Amino acid sequence: MKIAVLPGDGIGAEIIAQALNVLKRLDLSLELEEAPVGGAGYDASGDPLPEATLRLAKEADAILFGAVGGWQYDQLPRAKRPEQAILGLRKHLGLFANLRPAQVYAELASASALKPEVVAGLDILIIRELTGDIYFGQPRGIQKLADGQREGFDTMRYSEGEIRRIAHVGFQAALKRGRKLCSVDKANVLETSQLWRDVVIEVGKEYPDVELSHMYVDNCAMQLVRTPKQFDVIVTGNMFGDILSDEASMLTGSIGMLPSASLDANNKGLYEPIHGSAPDIAGKDVANPLATILSAAMMLRYSLHQAGAADRVEAAVKRVLKDGYRTADIFEAGAKKVGTKEMGAAVVAALG
Ligand code: IPM
Ligand code: MG
Repeated sequence: MKIAVLPGDGIGAEIIAQALNVLKRLDLSLELEEAPVGGAGYDASGDPLPEATLRLAKEADAILFGAVGGWQYDQLPRAKRPEQAILGLRKHLGLFANLRPAQVYAELASASALKPEVVAGLDILIIRELTGDIYFGQPRGIQKLADGQREGFDTMRYSEGEIRRIAHVGFQAALKRGRKLCSVDKANVLETSQLWRDVVIEVGKEYPDVELSHMYVDNCAMQLVRTPKQFDVIVTGNMFGDILSDEASMLTGSIGMLPSASLDANNKGLYEPIHGSAPDIAGKDVANPLATILSAAMMLRYSLHQAGAADRVEAAVKRVLKDGYRTADIFEAGAKKVGTKEMGAAVVAALG
C-alpha cells in the first residue's frame, strides 16, 4: 500500500512526523513517499501543487496531508497561493465526499467552550460536499462596472448528480450510525438549495430506515451550540460545510482534535486534520498532533481497509487523553502538559 505523504507548511511537518511514527509502529507494509505541497510546493517549483506531487497523489492508494498556508504567500496571485493545492487535489482526484467527525472525548468535555453537559458524549458526523458549489462554480471574477467601480462575483451551483451522490454518502453513513440524517441548506432563499432539498428528499425514498430532516444553515449554526447532541449525521454543501465544521470542532474543545477524510467514488482518499498550518506556532513543538494521528486512523479504516489497526490507533489516543497528556490547546490545570513530539510518543507507547 502506497501512501503519498504531503506535510505542506507551518506545523504540517511536525504533526505529520508524529502520524508517521504511529503508522510505522503498526506492522503494516506501507510505502511512504513524501512530496512538497502548498507554500513548500511553490518554493520548490513555483507551483503550490507541483506536477510530480499531483502524479504521486494520483498513483498512491491514499494521501496523508498536513496543512498549507503561510503569511509569506498571502500576497501571491490566487492561482499560486497554497490553498490552491488542496482545492486542486480535491478537484483533480474527484474527492467529493468530506467526512468530518466531531466527537467529544469524556476527558475533554470541560475543555469545550460550552458547558460539559451540553457536549459530553457528543458524536456527530458532518459530511461536506467538496468539489462543487460556490468554491468551484463558474463564472467568477472581479469586473469593472459601467460606473467605473469594481464588482466581485462567484457562482453557487450544484447539479442533480452532484447532490445525489453526496446525499447517498450521507444516507449510507447514517445507516451505519444513529440512522438520522439532517440535510442543511438555505432553501428559503437560494435556488441551488431548493434543488438540493428536492434531490435529497428523492434520494431519501431509497432509505426508509433513515430519519431525514432539513434545516436552514443559519438555524443549524445556532442549534450546533444550543443542543448539538440532537444531530447524528449532517450532510451539506461545500461552503456551508466549511463553516459548520469549524464551528463543530469547537464543541470538542479544540480544532486540534478533528480529523477528516475526503473520499472519491471508490473510497480512495485524502486525510487531513481540519485545522490549518498555524504559522504562529510552527517549529515550536507545541501543536497538537492528535487530529493528524486520528486522520491517519481514518485512512487505515476507509482507504486501506485496516479496521483493526484504525481501532488500535483510536484506542491509543483515548488512552493518552485518559492518562492526562495534554498539548497547550487542550491543557487544563492538573494535566501533563506535553509538546507535539511527546504527545506523538505517548500515542506510540499506548499502541502497546
Ligand atoms: C478547509 C479549509 C479549506 C477550505 C481552505 C484552506 C481552502 O478551510 O479544508 O476547511 O475552505 O475548504
Ligand atoms: Mg475550513
